[in-house]
Amino acid sequence: MERVFVTRSLPGTALDELRQAGYQVDVWPEFLAPPRAVLLERVRGAAGLITMLEDRVDAELMDAAGPGLKVIAQYAVGLDNVDLEAARERGIVVTHTPGVLTDATADLAFALLAAAARRVVEGHDYVRRGEWKTWHPELLLGPELHGATVGVVGFGRIGQAFARRARGFEMKVLYTSRRPKPEAEAALAAERVELDELLARADFVSLHTPLTPETHRLMNAERLARMKEGAVLVNTARGKVVDTEALLDALERGPLFAAGLDVTDPEPLPADHPLLGHPRVVVTPHIGSAGLRTRRRMAEMVAHDLRAVLEGRTPKHAAVL
Ligand code: DGY
Repeated sequence: MERVFVTRSLPGTALDELRQAGYQVDVWPEFLAPPRAVLLERVRGAAGLITMLEDRVDAELMDAAGPGLKVIAQYAVGLDNVDLEAARERGIVVTHTPGVLTDATADLAFALLAAAARRVVEGHDYVRRGEWKTWHPELLLGPELHGATVGVVGFGRIGQAFARRARGFEMKVLYTSRRPKPEAEAALAAERVELDELLARADFVSLHTPLTPETHRLMNAERLARMKEGAVLVNTARGKVVDTEALLDALERGPLFAAGLDVTDPEPLPADHPLLGHPRVVVTPHIGSAGLRTRRRMAEMVAHDLRAVLEGRTPKHAAVL
């Protein structure tokens, strides 16, 4: 019986179905990730691994699993924690979950944009503290969404889904992308510009790039300083795309009005981190894809692709084949 190690429990019935198909499915039962030494021990002899974005999936881990490891199915679209080259060298297939989480992530990005701009969390805290004594014309004013210009950095599936939501709010869409996207451009009346121009023109900037050496700290002090006075930054991509110190500085000294972050650097963000002390920073704990249906579908995707590889078929969502 081939063994599959899963580094966290998954929603839905996908893992039961793997068991019914005859696999020995060994699931790490705790909420926190397995400590590295335990992980290296538990993967030994596995034919397949289902991994999460917090797991460092490198050559050491692959070698600890041993020569029987055929497939790593990552329960995420992002693969920045996986050494794809090491997998390729070892003939290990790597799959992931593109597409299925596009809308859930775009929904959350838009929710963060609205919450940060219109001070939803600040307002809620204000009420909870018992400070709501009266209606006042100058209470908790924030930038308007309707008619604003939004800059989408990275115009892939999620960036475009986010832009569709922005269009629903009658926003003007600017985007950056390595290649022009004429169809999406036409459908969304979007304008492709260089990053510097986008930063100078956008009232809201939403990040949708994968984390790569080129996008690491893409939003550094210099770029943050180029943003429009009163702008709002939203990040649902990867925390390391933004320089956290520089972000704090841009919030405290300008030009930023607010930030909505589902991903942070460091991640997880400690409760006493200065970012959380800033009234106009809204932080969620990396839950972009955390729709009920989406997370179940992600589980089905990893399980199907993992089975495909173990049964000699071609997986549908391979990053390394
Ligand atoms: C991903 O898929 O990369 C998200 O960050 C988590 O779902």
